[in-house]
Amino acid sequence: MQVVTKAKRLRGEVSVPGDKSISHRAVMLGAIAEGVTEISGFLTGADCLSTIDCFRKLGIRIDREGEHVKVYGEGLYGLKEPEDVLDVGNSGTTIRLISGILSGQPFTSTLTGDASIRRRPMKRVLHPLSEMGARILGRDNQNKAPFSLQGGDLQAVRYQTPVASAQIKSAILLAGLYAPGKTTVIEPEKSRNHTEVMLQGFGAKVTESQNSSVVEGLPVLEAQKITIPGDISSAAFFIVAALIVPDSELVITNVGINQTRTGILDVLWQMGADISVLNERETSGEKVGDLLVKSSPLKGVSFGGDIIPRLVDEIPVLAVAAALAEGTTTITNAEELKVKESNRLETITTELKKMGANITETADGLIIKGPVRLTGAVCKSHHDHRIAMACAVAGLVADKETMINEPECVDISFPEFFDRLETLST
Ligand code: S3P
Repeated sequence: MQVVTKAKRLRGEVSVPGDKSISHRAVMLGAIAEGVTEISGFLTGADCLSTIDCFRKLGIRIDREGEHVKVYGEGLYGLKEPEDVLDVGNSGTTIRLISGILSGQPFTSTLTGDASIRRRPMKRVLHPLSEMGARILGRDNQNKAPFSLQGGDLQAVRYQTPVASAQIKSAILLAGLYAPGKTTVIEPEKSRNHTEVMLQGFGAKVTESQNSSVVEGLPVLEAQKITIPGDISSAAFFIVAALIVPDSELVITNVGINQTRTGILDVLWQMGADISVLNERETSGEKVGDLLVKSSPLKGVSFGGDIIPRLVDEIPVLAVAAALAEGTTTITNAEELKVKESNRLETITTELKKMGANITETADGLIIKGPVRLTGAVCKSHHDHRIAMACAVAGLVADKETMINEPECVDISFPEFFDRLETLST
């Protein structure tokens, strides 16, 4: 149980841990590159540790000291058949992306994860991988973990994905590394492109246009030094916190601001937020900046369509901002939230309602009417890190204490979250 009380103001400078998406990809590409990849700023959250664990079970030496990781790559075909089931824990990115790599391996692997992972849809990834030539057997007609995957000779494909998802796109591109010729993925809207950016850094030939990405198979990947920026999805909790807690002024340093991830800034700016991006720079092919955030009166907005993949993980905390904003916020085309770590449309609605928010779940999104005065309540995380952190942010402006049950799930993406929040609130 974690207790959160009303904050007077949030002031100072804070950093956030390394980007989760980029941390996973750095280990994965490091493992199939030639030579030793050195990573700094690695996210030591449970999800990325699951990726390290899986690659160790595939015979890769990985040394880690805190946020510094060395991956001793063995090349495209250097992985070994694992002796046991690969357990990805809570990590959707691990299970889906590793499936792409395992599709190119001449051995059999079995993958599973926790209760949430075993509920989440896998056919969206396993179907294109089987079209490329992988043989897959899994629960629910090849849709649920555990599943087994026998890799082998793959064929390049041109695949149109039914949903905008970086996990689907990346699994196919990673399998495409093992297929002679060009593999193309076309999405309904563009999703985050960290796989494409990093593959280019490792020496693969990748091209991107608005909604499609193309990789050329059978490259030689060369080990890299990678510096991982802070995760904008973790920064999002502090951004919204500083906006809604009166008299706040916060600098969040070293945040990844790749265009495919900054939908949250665009929506908050539209709501009237005072956020400035300072010291723009680039590390390992990714744009980075510091964010200066000041308390701001917010107004409701409507958003949906192609911005959704650019802020898909930030919707729970945006719902908190919307509850305190003047007017109605309408979110559409966000049905993907139903198949995240929890059904986030349902869980955020349930929890914010307990605190007095005027929030309604719709078939594909949320309608939130504000402003309301929030009151502390006993909230449940539903074992979903982003729900726990969104409730904590709401708790900073609520009358009376907010109690969050099962708060340990923040370890998935932001183990230090509650400590850092406490240091900032005065
Ligand atoms: C991720 C992609 C997104 C996101 C997840 C991380 C990635 O999932 O929600 O937290 O690292 O590729 P989808 O691809 O399912 O949208």
